[in-house]
Amino acid sequence: MRDVEPILWKGGRLSLLDQRRLPQRETYLELRGARDTARAIRSMVVRGAPAIGVTAAFGLALEAARFRSGHLRDDFERAAGVLLAARPTAVNLRWALERLRETAAAVGQDAAPRTLAAALRKQALALYREDIAANRALGAAGARVLPSGDVLTHCNAGALATAGYGTALGVIRAAWSSGRRFGVYATETRPFLQGARLTAWELVRLRIPVTLITDGMVGALLATRKVAAVVVGTDRTAANGDVANKIGTYTIAVLARRHGVPFYVAAPTSSIDLDCASGDDIPIEERDADEVTHIRGRRVATEGVRVFNPAFDVTPAELVTAIITEQGVVRGGDRTGLARAVHAAQRHR
Ligand code: MRU
Repeated sequence: MRDVEPILWKGGRLSLLDQRRLPQRETYLELRGARDTARAIRSMVVRGAPAIGVTAAFGLALEAARFRSGHLRDDFERAAGVLLAARPTAVNLRWALERLRETAAAVGQDAAPRTLAAALRKQALALYREDIAANRALGAAGARVLPSGDVLTHCNAGALATAGYGTALGVIRAAWSSGRRFGVYATETRPFLQGARLTAWELVRLRIPVTLITDGMVGALLATRKVAAVVVGTDRTAANGDVANKIGTYTIAVLARRHGVPFYVAAPTSSIDLDCASGDDIPIEERDADEVTHIRGRRVATEGVRVFNPAFDVTPAELVTAIITEQGVVRGGDRTGLARAVHAAQRHR
């Protein structure tokens, strides 16, 4: 089975699988620079922390074709600023742009724009490959600790949310390919329906048995059916191990603790922010009221109602059993272990 390719980079051209149209339609949108890439990220053509980081890197590399000689630094910072403002919570966006900033600094501001553009394209492609390698490594590490039995996941942390393979779904895929057999419960993930539309689609394609539930069914699921573990992704994990992820993750973590089910977070080190002391410092994106009042373009809520629509929540470290990184598995709340994993990844690049 051909793997899902959310980000296509071919012959110096960038196309994104339009995730807003899945699972009904598989169409790609071509992007040409920083502004339309930022728009695509904001409007969820592409979503998922690692995927938006890698996409932003390609968007910036494309924009570099328009940088002016003698103004490289200004032009770089303007484009990076546009991309960074696209979505606030996933730290991967900042992580990817910082990696490109290092490349730009190494090239130097007196270089020809063409030289800088080539170096940025090369670096963006390196980040793309690094992300897939990290997901495969964390998938293998996670499969070793995942208890046998059914698994619950939330939102979409699959190939679609990354450059490829997936983080939480990477763990599930690695366990499945090692010959273990189990079922996966996927939450629908209101309001954007990443679970119903994307996770279920990916797992059906992979022929891994998947059962869809609405978000409100998690308590009943954990109370009445045997679920061996919860595995989710993260948009930003703070230095103390607090985990920001899709809205509803915190509720699941509380319920998992109540029912004695281990709660795992699959986190490439690109999603760990050692500059964020705790979850209190993580900016949480609030999105349009329409996402709550409407379902697929049709209004379901009464006119005049107020809406609260945070896209993410923070799960305190004490509810996290372990964080699975490409550098190994770190116990929930183990600050030293998290810092060690991030530093090891920096040394390995
Ligand atoms: O709003 P989204 O769809 O970008 O949110 C995605 C998530 O919350 C994922 O769980 C997270 O980014 C990890 S993806 C590997």
